[in-house]
Amino acid sequence: MLLLLVLASLSVTQTLAYSARRDAQIITKFKHELELNHAKIARELVHRANWASVATISTNQVVKDYPMVNVIAIDDNNANNISTGVVRYLLTDLDFTGTDWHSNNKVTFLFTDEQTLNCRNSNKDPMEPTCARVMISGQVKKLDEYSPSYNSTLDIFIVRHPAAANWILTHHFYLCELDIQNIYVLDFYGGPHQVKPSDYYAINI
Ligand SMILES: *[C@@H]1O[C@H](CO)[C@@H](O)[C@H](O)[C@H]1NC(C)=O
Ligand SMILES: *[C@@H]1O[C@H](CO)[C@@H](O)[C@H](O)[C@H]1NC(C)=O
Repeated sequence: MLLLLVLASLSVTQTLAYSARRDAQIITKFKHELELNHAKIARELVHRANWASVATISTNQVVKDYPMVNVIAIDDNNANNISTGVVRYLLTDLDFTGTDWHSNNKVTFLFTDEQTLNCRNSNKDPMEPTCARVMISGQVKKLDEYSPSYNSTLDIFIVRHPAAANWILTHHFYLCELDIQNIYVLDFYGGPHQVKPSDYYAINI
């Protein structure tokens, strides 16, 4: 009997505070979140981007131990120009990133929808969570230059980044892949979503 009374008074309070508009907003937000495929969003951002901002822990004497960021050209295509999700990039030990990973092999790649101006074109500030971004953390995996597939993999990269052909000639650039440990996707209000690397790679785009 007491419980019934408590429940009855609760429902009165709720009725008083009820707002149809607020309810509709909550339902819309919930539906929107259900529709977002975070793994697919991550794959699309990576595939569309020609480059990523890449953070390392600095070994540079002037900013030692500070996070350092760099612009790194990337590509995730296979020989048939189809997205694989594998993040490939060239590094040189003459540059910040190339030096840092030898000391501490922990890197984070940032991709944002603003790189292709999608946010600006839909009037979204790049810092709004609705301007999707993905932060992929992992290890630098240097590919074996003497493996039979190295040159053809490098050729695929050069299709998308023709300027890289000159970098390789003048400085010692080497091809790497990202060994992904964690993927955070921010694509709506309510905080980041963790995407498993296996779910990320399983997407077809
Ligand atoms: C690869 O595919 C992209 C679209 O994803 C296209 O813009 C580009 O021209 C293609 N490149 C080649 C070499 O076919
Ligand atoms: C790859 O290309 C380099 C430079 O052109 C060449 O020296 C090397 O022999 C090639 N490697 C293979 C396995 O074909």
